[in-house]
Amino acid sequence: MSAKPLRLGVNIDHVATLRNARGGARPDPLRAALLAIEAGADGITAHLREDRRHITDADMARLKAGISKPLNFEMAATAQMLDIALATAPHAACLVPEKRTERTTEGGLDVIGGHDYLVPFVDQLTRGGIRVSLFIEPSTEAIDAAASIRAPVVELHTGAWCHAVETGDLARAEREFARVVAAAAYGAEKGLEIHAGHGLDYDTARRVSALPQIAELNIGHFLIGEAVFVGLSEAIRQMRAAMDAGRASVAP
Ligand code: PXP
Repeated sequence: MSAKPLRLGVNIDHVATLRNARGGARPDPLRAALLAIEAGADGITAHLREDRRHITDADMARLKAGISKPLNFEMAATAQMLDIALATAPHAACLVPEKRTERTTEGGLDVIGGHDYLVPFVDQLTRGGIRVSLFIEPSTEAIDAAASIRAPVVELHTGAWCHAVETGDLARAEREFARVVAAAAYGAEKGLEIHAGHGLDYDTARRVSALPQIAELNIGHFLIGEAVFVGLSEAIRQMRAAMDAGRASVAP
């Protein structure tokens, strides 16, 4: 298949993490978002967590009002978040699982057990003009369940693969990557738009960009970490170059 254009969504949650470590207003996530867009981000992602550990309600409102590119509102599928998302009216919402004790989003959404709850939830967001994606494990079961929930987009969780790469467990990394490859192909066959994210760095982003079905990557922690060393604009430019190199390797 011919490859789709590949968008980069920059997740600015950890700019807020850094700000909240001291309290006060700096560094400002909106300033980071504007800089990210200037450096080539196609959209901005922010996760309003139940415990507000990084992004706050006020951040979300400022981002929506202040950026010129699409805002992707990451959220748990709770009644409170539904109200806030509908009031904020972002371009997109990505539904993720959330546990208070986790450090980041561990594992995909339970789209099988949560089916009956998620169908009307997704429907309300969709009727509010918000494009919904479901953050899922890269498996055929999760794709089938996501398709039956009628969200137009799935974001494949790349965390297990990236963790295996980072810890040098290469056999596991290849198995996990094969799951991402298969899920991207299967999901596209089912008519879903395919996104991917979690734990990506330059190398893993380059590799996953070679999957022609993938339309968007959402990347945060690595970019904010790299920004300490090379600056946010340069980190985003290098990420964009890695993605373009990966995409260029796809047969036309
Ligand atoms: N996509 C989703 C759905 C996420 O929950 C996260 C983490 O907030 C990311 C992408 C970005 O992950 P990372 O910060 O590891 O790049």
